[in-house]
Amino acid sequence: MTVTIKAVVFDAYGTLYDVQSVADVTEDAFPGYGDIITQVWRIKQLEYSWLRTLMRRYQDFSVATRDGLAYTLRSLGLQYDAATFARIIDKYQHLDLYPDAVSALSAMKDRKLAILSNGSPDMLNALVRNSGLDRLLDATISVDAKKMFKPAPEAYMLIEEVLHVPPAEVLFISSNPWDACGAKAFGLNVAWIERVTPEAMALACVESETVTPLTMFWALRTQMDELGVAPDHRIRALSELPALVSAQRS
Ligand code: LAC
Repeated sequence: MTVTIKAVVFDAYGTLYDVQSVADVTEDAFPGYGDIITQVWRIKQLEYSWLRTLMRRYQDFSVATRDGLAYTLRSLGLQYDAATFARIIDKYQHLDLYPDAVSALSAMKDRKLAILSNGSPDMLNALVRNSGLDRLLDATISVDAKKMFKPAPEAYMLIEEVLHVPPAEVLFISSNPWDACGAKAFGLNVAWIERVTPEAMALACVESETVTPLTMFWALRTQMDELGVAPDHRIRALSELPALVSAQRS
């Protein structure tokens, strides 16, 4: 079946922006701990967003991000002052874009382009502005309007509400398997970016004597989940998107 894709909507953290790029700052603040802080922080940040949705105690993603970092540093027994904490958190407004993000978005300007993210409006607007994506995106949509985080279906409803494009004409892109599954379960067309292949996974497990925190993160959060839904497309990088989107044109 051929579908016409009128809007291409992206997850932000981990999809357009590299969440691993906080590792420079975490390593600089706590030498020797950069990798484990980076991984535990991201795992806890997401966990808190899901738990708060289930607990019906929504606080925006900047709170989950701060609380996740506070948990991480405390659990590792690290002492810190407010300035160090602020310096690490600030990186969330200056995350690195994946190198192929700008060219991929630029090549799809004939469609509506947007972000749908769990990020708070303030966090997202700063990040999008600082990285220059504000010049390419038609909208930056935060789940904050629903007070529920992805993968709750209510969060994905915002795409149609803001862009006025029905789910059947939207291609949603995420590298986060849980997000790709949530979007597919909701009814969007979904392309999942498989950035870490099973082959790379297997290599990482045998390469070093002990499994690194990054390898553990890859195992937990980069491989397709067992949630009973499968994305429509599996790609390796954002650079594959323009061809995929043109091929969908009826
Ligand atoms: C996002 C994160 C949670 O929604 O990946 O951007």
